[in-house]
Amino acid sequence: MRFLITAGPTREPIDPVRYISNRSSGKMGYAIAEAALAEGHDVTLISGPVTLEAPQKAQLISVSTSDEMFEAVCQHAHHCDICVLCAAVADYKPGAISPTKIKKCGEKFSLELVPTRDILDSLGHKQNRQFILAGFAAETDHVEENAGKKLRAKNCDIIVANDVSSANSGMESDLNEVTILFRNGEKKKIYRAQKKIIGRELVKIFSHFATKTFDKKNGAIN
Ligand code: CTP
Repeated sequence: MRFLITAGPTREPIDPVRYISNRSSGKMGYAIAEAALAEGHDVTLISGPVTLEAPQKAQLISVSTSDEMFEAVCQHAHHCDICVLCAAVADYKPGAISPTKIKKCGEKFSLELVPTRDILDSLGHKQNRQFILAGFAAETDHVEENAGKKLRAKNCDIIVANDVSSANSGMESDLNEVTILFRNGEKKKIYRAQKKIIGRELVKIFSHFATKTFDKKNGAIN
């Protein structure tokens, strides 16, 4: 199968030397990409700025801003069977980018932020979508409840709920613990483990779900 995976943070420039970003390391997305390749799948990896080495056999598309990630995903999603949007896309960006370095003035300073486009939401509401869509939900509280709301609001097939409140799992860590929620209310938990191991489990879950869905569409009898 053909996977499209987004990973890492985005950077939203303020001026030539500053940007807004977040703590995402890209480790979870890269682990999924590696696991998918190891299972013989094709992988397009759309990555924000990270310090990780890209898996050799992946088609790597490096982006920086949420707009660049949006364009790259829109361009490649319809060639894929499974889109896994793991990136921590910025929710806001500066309303205007200063072409020159903003000088300090010794007084209060405020920056106008405008919402970015939501990539997962936009794919989820595409008419006649042919690919399986999996999102991630980074939550610090009411993890499953909030993730369930995102699953429905963004109209995806699967959401992977990620508790990012703990220092020794989630963002930046090599470890993670996730709950996978499906639209029919089914859920699966993967207990705290290396992201590489979680990546392998997720690829199995995604490809099994995709096979089942595509077989049903094609009327195949199992
Ligand atoms: N996402 C996206 N585009 C955005 C923001 C988020 O595609 N502009 C995707 C992420 O890649 C992830 C999912 O939406 O798959 C949920 O992201 P998350 O940061 O958990 O939630 P938000 O939708 O940003 O909501 P909030 O920050 O309020 O929790």
